[in-house]
Amino acid sequence: MLNFEFYNPTRNLFGKGSLEKLHDLMENYGQNILFLYGGGSIKRNGIFDKVMEQLRDKNVIEMGGVESNPTLDTLRRCIARCREEKADMVLGVGGGSVMDSAKMVAAGAVYDGDVWDFLANHDQLPQKALPVATVVTMVGTGSEVNQNFVLTNPQTCEKVGKNGGDACFPQFAICDPEYTYTVGPYQTASGAFDTIAHVFEHYFAEADQYMPIQDGMQEAIIRAVITELPRVLEEPDHYEARANLMWAAQQALFGIADMGKGHGERVEHKMEHILSAKYNCAHGAGLAVVVPPFRRYMCKLQPKKYRQFAENVFHLDCTSLSDYEAGIKGIEALEAFIHSVGLPTTLRELGASGPDDVEFLASELVKQGRVTKGTGIGYNELKEMYASVY
Ligand code: NZQ
Ligand code: ZN
Repeated sequence: MLNFEFYNPTRNLFGKGSLEKLHDLMENYGQNILFLYGGGSIKRNGIFDKVMEQLRDKNVIEMGGVESNPTLDTLRRCIARCREEKADMVLGVGGGSVMDSAKMVAAGAVYDGDVWDFLANHDQLPQKALPVATVVTMVGTGSEVNQNFVLTNPQTCEKVGKNGGDACFPQFAICDPEYTYTVGPYQTASGAFDTIAHVFEHYFAEADQYMPIQDGMQEAIIRAVITELPRVLEEPDHYEARANLMWAAQQALFGIADMGKGHGERVEHKMEHILSAKYNCAHGAGLAVVVPPFRRYMCKLQPKKYRQFAENVFHLDCTSLSDYEAGIKGIEALEAFIHSVGLPTTLRELGASGPDDVEFLASELVKQGRVTKGTGIGYNELKEMYASVY
């Protein structure tokens, strides 16, 4: 097991009616509140009004329009507004895009430079940030309980993720599964698959070491997504299933389940980020396309771990199979699951318009230095993986 230090200060208010605690919680955070949200879903489903009611004693600075896969220009605009209005706190109400943006605005507002510096320079962490908090409306990223953020620069086709350090942990997260009832089937499935991809990055790391606690938790998270997502697709306001998906997403990326494991270079996330930078696709949908070819590639290198996945997650009978054959059987089961929940399996479904795209995606990732040689994966491997799902 790798050495680790566990720290997560975010107060998690989970469950039905938890928004009612917002009013009292806000007492600690000053008067001027930047209320950040996305393209308008919260106005249509009534969450906006409910939040405003809780903020009744505050001076609310409303800032909507954060797009899915938030862009640098939008963040610059939000940060400028946050400074002008002298906000004391940033409250992000939405999915991963809004919650990530809330963290970047909170850090960018008190930083004497451009927000892209945090993304462009690997070692540059925000040293401080305004207090930030979230109300979750879409499940998958776990952004509500972690310190990460992701930003896209469409001009350069770069989408970069960052662990923002201690300053970027939300103070609290309001997580009411009922608020996700209105998320449509495609976005729901996309978020759920994002959860699986987050677990994968740790589950398959340190594959030769015996870590029954981490493996057991991670297998449970993936199994939960596999059983609960179909229940939600069948019945979108199924409280229990929505709650299980929400908790799975948080467990996948808030620290506990992956302690003591590395996560390599998060290659599949980088393979996806270039897709959402280029095609503006849903993050989890992009992952659904690139995870299987990446895992097929890795199965050759660590077949034993992939057998474990097939047997413990999908409960497949692999007795007469080699480790590699068993691993591939597990990946095939995953592909069947992806197909069954309506997620895409090809680049074309995300917007790729010709074989040149494959070339572009592989070369751009290498050019941006996003996937380094240390992984054993270079231009040729990337091209082969993308081509296999064109
Ligand atoms: O913008 P609105 O109108 O609110 O609509 C959103 C958006 O169109 C809609 N939505 C959200 N809540 C809804 C709803 N529609 C109906 N009812 C509701 N209750 O859903 C759409 C997608 O929302 P978005 O926030 O973009 O999705 P997601 O939560 O998947 O976040 C994606 C972003 O998070 C980053 C991704 O790269 C991407 O930029 N990630 C952040 C991570 C983190 N902080 O740890 C890790 C992830 O790996 C990921 O990279
Ligand atoms: Zn993700």
